[in-house]
Amino acid sequence: MKTYGGKVCIKTYGCQMNVYDSEIMTGLLIDEDYKITEDMNEADIILLNTCSIRKKAEDKVYSQLGVLRKLKEKRPSLILGVGGCMAQREGTEIFRKSPSVDLIFGTQQICNLPALLNKVIRRGKVMAIEEEKIDQEEVRAYRADKTKVYVAIMRGCDNHCTYCVVPSARGRQRSRPPEGIIREIENLAKEGYKEVTLLGQNVIAYGKDLGEIDFADLLERINKIEGIEKIRFITSHPKDMSDRLIETLPRLSKICEDLHLPVQSGSNRILKAMNRGYTREEYLKIIGKVRSLIPRISTTTDIIVGFPGESEKDFTDTLGLMKEVRFASAYIFKYSSRPGTSAERMPGQIPEEIKLKRLHKIISLQRAIATTKAQNIR
Ligand code: SAH
Ligand code: SF4
Ligand code: F3S
Repeated sequence: MKTYGGKVCIKTYGCQMNVYDSEIMTGLLIDEDYKITEDMNEADIILLNTCSIRKKAEDKVYSQLGVLRKLKEKRPSLILGVGGCMAQREGTEIFRKSPSVDLIFGTQQICNLPALLNKVIRRGKVMAIEEEKIDQEEVRAYRADKTKVYVAIMRGCDNHCTYCVVPSARGRQRSRPPEGIIREIENLAKEGYKEVTLLGQNVIAYGKDLGEIDFADLLERINKIEGIEKIRFITSHPKDMSDRLIETLPRLSKICEDLHLPVQSGSNRILKAMNRGYTREEYLKIIGKVRSLIPRISTTTDIIVGFPGESEKDFTDTLGLMKEVRFASAYIFKYSSRPGTSAERMPGQIPEEIKLKRLHKIISLQRAIATTKAQNIR
């Protein structure tokens, strides 16, 4: 039912999965004759696709909603929607804190977006955060980049890292059946796309919930698709980096020679408290093996500083690991306490100024490493 056809502006926060979800939303809305605009001032509908990973990410959304409230005061017909991870987690709390919001839609409600907007237009406020079984990927995403393309191969996460909101925002791990993925990438290759990035909250755990195929098998199949020249994948969890997968990577000609493998901490005590499921030694072994099989590989990582209970010694262990591995680059985050996670209730929460001091120290270490690496000084 094509009922509206107004102009929609989508603002995206957070990770690549959210960028991709916004592409799906755009595709669906274009199919319904909506026009897409980047300019909030000319939009009839503004949708925020939000992230919850750290408190700062949510603060950004609420401050944006403050600005949009004023816009809506001037133009009462403006429709405001909040979707994505924060919508999923906060639910009605968003209506309470920002009464000008008309629509709250969760991470599994994206395919219903046109119907939800119709409801809002006809009846006013709507909230939809239920789990849905629809295969979002059978929907055509609108891809702005015409050379590189994202394809989600799984969604959700079955890990329970004690600091992380993703499992509660994205639900249990759900891998897409391989046939649909292959079909989609074959079609994209026919359209001229040469580089594909496979997305998942823990992409290398692909297939564990299906039972009949694993990530290495899937890569083998994608590697054969004519027209595709480069394959990337994010994000990988070290505990799922099996020997079989490591040995598969160098055999497949199209796999890019870079690996993002978040370590989070160099201290075994903290890794345990984070429930990461590997030790510092196991992580180093993986890196060693990957580098010996793929000498040109570039490795990058994520680090959290100031996790509850992190002592100076734990922090020094992380610095030591960074010096030992010499990552090409690292995303370094200050621990952010998230509602509903078990780390939130752990003793030994680290004061802000210590977190900040550690953050600066580790950033300058990583900068020095990256600079000397770039100059090829080892
Ligand atoms: N699925 C990916 C990570 C997704 S979140 C993985 O497991 O590797 C991206 C990064 O945000 C994480 O790697 C972690 O470093 C960081 N992060 C997650 N929760 C955080 C929190 N509560 N505070 C600070 N950083 C956090
Ligand atoms: Fe979060 Fe851990 Fe899952 Fe990554 S693996 S999304 S950090 S729970
Ligand atoms: Fe943020 Fe959700 Fe991605 S919490 S990092 S947008 S999975």
